[in-house]
Amino acid sequence: MRILLAGGAGYIGSHTALALLRAGHEVTVIDNFVNSSPEAIRRIENLAGKQVSLIRGDVRKKTDLLPVLKNGGFDGAVHFAGLKSVGESLQKPILYYRNNIDTTLTLLECMEETHLSSIIFSSSATVYGSNNPVPYREDMPRGLCTNPYGTTKSMMEQIFHDAAAANPELSVVLLRYFNPIGADSSGRIGEDPQGIPNNLMPYIAQVAVGRREKLTVFGGDYPTPDGTCQRDYIHVSDLAQGHLKALEYAVSHTGCEIFNLGTGTPYSVLETVRTFEQVSGVKIPYVIGDRREGDLPACWADASKAEKILDWKAERTLEDMCRDAWNWQKNNPMGYETLHKS
Ligand code: NAD
Ligand code: UD1
Repeated sequence: MRILLAGGAGYIGSHTALALLRAGHEVTVIDNFVNSSPEAIRRIENLAGKQVSLIRGDVRKKTDLLPVLKNGGFDGAVHFAGLKSVGESLQKPILYYRNNIDTTLTLLECMEETHLSSIIFSSSATVYGSNNPVPYREDMPRGLCTNPYGTTKSMMEQIFHDAAAANPELSVVLLRYFNPIGADSSGRIGEDPQGIPNNLMPYIAQVAVGRREKLTVFGGDYPTPDGTCQRDYIHVSDLAQGHLKALEYAVSHTGCEIFNLGTGTPYSVLETVRTFEQVSGVKIPYVIGDRREGDLPACWADASKAEKILDWKAERTLEDMCRDAWNWQKNNPMGYETLHKS
């Protein structure tokens, strides 16, 4: 297949690009590098021994995107191009609505004009909101999100539903990611957040490598077995494989289908810290701090739909995730070293 990855230089996009190349597919990436580095693409090419067609462009701009689609001869596209920081979205809601909604609308318009009919969208477990019981199933209603980032995901899901309902040729797969962590086992590509990491695993890894003094565990009094929040962490390479299966599904179906991509097994913050310590041999100093506003006590997937329909199941363990996250961080203490760091 020939696949367009919008935002394909980022964390999940780069791992998906590598998985596609390794499986023999052709990959084109369009990215404006607002939160990524072209270095990731260079490394993917080295790892796969194959070329990626790379376009520096803004997916919001039709003048950037339309020529790529016209000339690409694509079988499908994956839409990763979005801003993803929950905290930043509360401070800069207009930027988040503008970027995330506009990339989606421009992509759909250009697809319609060029008769490209299969699209995979990076959605999030955040769309379940706070009132559904765990584990989350795809047939549960979307909930109210507590931040603009989450609201953009929910709005974009609705846009895709409406577009598929209006165009019988369109095939949309909405992938609701749970908590992607880890890195390719080569340690050459991985998660490279700008500034202070918001998410747990990059924070732990930066403590381990000496960039941060200690971890603050956000809350130790939740109604969970050890008092810390539980999440469904999924290895980014398993997630990448899920995109391959979703693409195979999308090119042979029409309509709009939703799949959770998670393992179905929750782990607490402290279990994750302990597992990281075991596989890395590095002690992670931590303190228990206040709860973070907007955090849910527990969030995990019912992952059975993807297994049944896509024949996809996460294979890697929490140990694998921690080992690979550490392998990436210790080999690249400052990430790709091209983004602003603090
Ligand atoms: P990322 O920031 O590493 O990757 C996003 C990529 O999109 C970056 O390379 C960025 O430069 C690019 N981009 C953003 N706006 C663009 C624009 N207007 N034009 C061109 N390129 C643009 O994030 P990620 O972790 O790889 O996430 C990919 C997608 O998955 C995002 O939509 C994110 O919201 C979603 N998601 C991520 C997680 C997670 O935990 N990482 C969880 C759920 C959903
Ligand atoms: C967060 C976002 C979610 C987004 C996802 C991926 C919030 C409220 N949710 O999910 O919308 O889709 O990232 O980008 O921001 N933790 C600590 N200390 C830290 C960091 C995290 O204890 O320094 C805890 C959190 O309280 C949480 C767990 O670790 O219980 C995982 O946190 P994180 O990696 O930020 O993911 P989510 O909060 O699940």
